[in-house]
Amino acid sequence: MTETNRISARNVKVFYGEKQAINDVSIDIASEHVTAFIGPSGCGKSTFLRVLNRMNDTIPGCRVTGEIKLDGQDIYGPDMDVVQLRARVGMVFQKPNPFPKSIYENVAYGPRIHGLANGKTEMDAIVEKSLRRAGLWDEVKDRLTDAGTALSGGQQQRLCIARAIAVSPEVILMDEPCSALDPIATARIEELIDDLKGRYAIVIVTHSMQQAARVSQRTAFFHLGTMVEYGPTEQIFTNPREVRTKDYITGRYG
Ligand SMILES: Nc1ncnc2c1ncn2[C@@H]1O[C@H](COP(=O)(O)OP(=O)(O)OP(=O)(O)O)[C@@H](O)[C@H]1O
Ligand SMILES: [Mg+2]
Repeated sequence: MTETNRISARNVKVFYGEKQAINDVSIDIASEHVTAFIGPSGCGKSTFLRVLNRMNDTIPGCRVTGEIKLDGQDIYGPDMDVVQLRARVGMVFQKPNPFPKSIYENVAYGPRIHGLANGKTEMDAIVEKSLRRAGLWDEVKDRLTDAGTALSGGQQQRLCIARAIAVSPEVILMDEPCSALDPIATARIEELIDDLKGRYAIVIVTHSMQQAARVSQRTAFFHLGTMVEYGPTEQIFTNPREVRTKDYITGRYG
């Protein structure tokens, strides 16, 4: 089986001022896979996720060392255009955060600023395709001009996924994307993640071990700012090599 690594991170350290949040993490993120980041609260999962598309640039005092490459290109290098980077490495947050605009405009916004559509017909096609891929089209096709914020929580999260997809990303980062959703909406997002993994590399942070086991093929266990163990999800959950991983997955500490 051949596979391509989209992201390669080496010896990454992240500091907030004097405080170190990530210590020496190296990881490869494969395309066409879902990679889950698990670990107790405060261990650095969100921090590490954010450095993968330089979302941390917006946090004063946050400093990153080491190397992170996207398709071989250093994302912290002088030639990297951060706006382009965030289109290539999209992000979906814990709390659905549609723009205060229509459903249509939420999806069209990115393609418009990146100049991806030549005229309205092309833009309509991108909006429809993105909403279809996000499993939302049938529910919203007759109300595209309604506010994105008028949708249910689960629909809003799928709208945010459609917005990320609309600019043809290579990687989609999801930070606890279901934690604000009920079980039915969660199941829909999990199905969607499964459908999307053939096209994008997906990284999902989750506190739900069941969710990690259901949706991911790779799991990385973080603890106190380090990545303790990384491997096939099945192995991590059934036969972890590290005692700390075993203790966590068996619920000995959280
Ligand atoms: N903006 C920030 N400024 C300063 N310190 C921060 C900031 N964000 C996170 N930290 C610190 O960095 C460490 C890692 O936090 P992070 O949010 O990455 O953990 P997490 O694993 O995502 O936790 P949770 O599961 O609760 O979301 C924590 O000690 C946290 O207090
Ligand atoms: Mg977090």
